[in-house]
Amino acid sequence: MAGAAEMMPGPSDLGPVMAEAGLETGVLGLRMSGVPLASIADAMGTPTYVYSADVIERRYHALDQALAGVPHRICFAVKSNSNLGVLRVLRDCGAGADLVSGGELKRALAAGFAPEHIVFSGVGKSRAELRLAAESALGHVNVESLEELQRLGEVANELGAEVRVGIRVNPDVTAETHPYISTGQGGIKFGVPADQVLKAVEIIKKNPRLKLSCIAMHLGSQLVDATPYAEGIARLLKLIAEVRAAGAHDLDSVDIGGGLGIRYAGDPGIDLEKYSAAVVTPLRPLGLTVYVEPGRYLVGSAGVLLTEVMYRKHSGGKDFVIVDAAMNDLLRPSLYRAWHGIVEVTPKGRAVKPVDVVGPICETGDFLALGRPMPEVEPGERLAILGAGAYGFVMSSNYNTRGRAAEVLIRDGGWHVVRPREDVEELFRTEAVDPFTPTTVGKPK
Ligand code: LLP
Repeated sequence: MAGAAEMMPGPSDLGPVMAEAGLETGVLGLRMSGVPLASIADAMGTPTYVYSADVIERRYHALDQALAGVPHRICFAVKSNSNLGVLRVLRDCGAGADLVSGGELKRALAAGFAPEHIVFSGVGKSRAELRLAAESALGHVNVESLEELQRLGEVANELGAEVRVGIRVNPDVTAETHPYISTGQGGIKFGVPADQVLKAVEIIKKNPRLKLSCIAMHLGSQLVDATPYAEGIARLLKLIAEVRAAGAHDLDSVDIGGGLGIRYAGDPGIDLEKYSAAVVTPLRPLGLTVYVEPGRYLVGSAGVLLTEVMYRKHSGGKDFVIVDAAMNDLLRPSLYRAWHGIVEVTPKGRAVKPVDVVGPICETGDFLALGRPMPEVEPGERLAILGAGAYGFVMSSNYNTRGRAAEVLIRDGGWHVVRPREDVEELFRTEAVDPFTPTTVGKPK
C-alpha cells in the first residue's frame, strides 16, 4: 500500500487552498494572515501548529450569513480543535459549543461559553459526565440510546435538576465520505434509531425533570455535497411531526449536526449557497431554532503544521523526505489516507519530483504524503502542511514518547503561543519508577 496513490489526488495548483487559509507568498516567504511563518518556526521550533484567528472569524461569519434565514446557533465542535485560545476566538464571534466528553465541557466552560449555548452529544456518556451536564444546565444533552436516556433521568432526579434533552436520531442517510467518519446511516453506533424515537418521547414525558427540547442528527464529516442534509432534514421533519403529535410540547429547536466539508485539494468543499438552500428552506416553516455543530468548516483551513526537513534518502527506487513531524502530530494521512497540501515556507522555484514525506516514528504507516510531487527540499528547510486546523493537534499522541507540538494563534498581524511544546519529562513524571513499593500497591478488598 505504501507508495501507492493517495486517497485524494492532489491538485497541481494549491492556490485556492492557500487563499482560504490566508496564506500568501512574498519576499519573506510564506505568510499567514500577514505573519511570516519562518519567523514563527525560528522562534518556536518545529513541529508547531499555527492557526489564524482572522480565517476562523471569516469562516464563522460566512456560515452565520448562510443561516441568516432561520433563527440559529452555531455550536463549534470542540473535538475538532479544543485549544482554549481557538475556543475563545469562536466564543467571541458568538458561537456556542458542541461537546463529546466531560473534558470538553470543562474546556468549554473554561473558555467562557455560556452553558445554555452548549450541546453535549456522544454515544457513551458516563454517569459522571451526565451529572456534570445536568448540573451545568446545558442548552441540550443529546441522548443517543434509550438506556442513556433512562440514566439521564435518574441523574436529573438525584440532582433535582431540570435537563433539556435532545434526541439524536440516526436518520439512516448515507453520506459520501470516508467510512470511518460517516455517522448517519443505519447499522452504526450513533443515534437513536427512528423506530425508537417515540419510545424515547414516552420516557421523557414520564419524568417531569426532563424536557424534550430538540431533535438532532449528525450525518458524518467532510461532506462536500448538500444533498444528504436535505435528505436527513426530510426525515427529521417527519419525526418532528410525530413527536409533536405524541405530545412533545417543549420542542424549541432542531439540531442538524456538523459535517461541512472543506477544500483540501481540488474539491472546493461544501457550497454554502447549496447548503443554505438545503437547510433554510425546509426548516424555516417549523419556527424552531436551528442548531448546527460544525468543526472542520470553521477551523480546518485556518491551521497549518510547520515542520522541518531532517534528511533525505533514496531507497527501493523511491525518494524519501524525512521531516520532524510525524503521525503522532498529524494522524489523518496515516489513519484515513487523507491528503494535505504541503508547501515550502521559503519557496525557491525548484523542479518537483515525487517523494514520500515521512516522519521519525517507527511505523511504515508514519507518512504525511506518499508519491507527492515536491521540490527538491534540503535539510533545515521548513514545510507547511495545510488544512491542519481541524482534527490535527487534537488527535495527536505521545507515541514514541514524543512531546506534542506547540500551538500558535495569529491575530491582527501578531502571534501568540496558545500552548507551549510539551515537555518530555512531564510525560512520565507521574509514573512509578520503582513500582513495587507500599505506596503503589493495590490491595484487594
Ligand atoms: N457533531 C457530532 C455529533 C460529531 O460527531 C461531529 C464529528 C461533529 C459534530 C463535527 O463534525 P465536522 O463539522 O467537524 O465534520 N477525525 C475525523 C473527523 C471525525 C468527526 C467526528 N465527529 C477527521 O480527521 O476527518
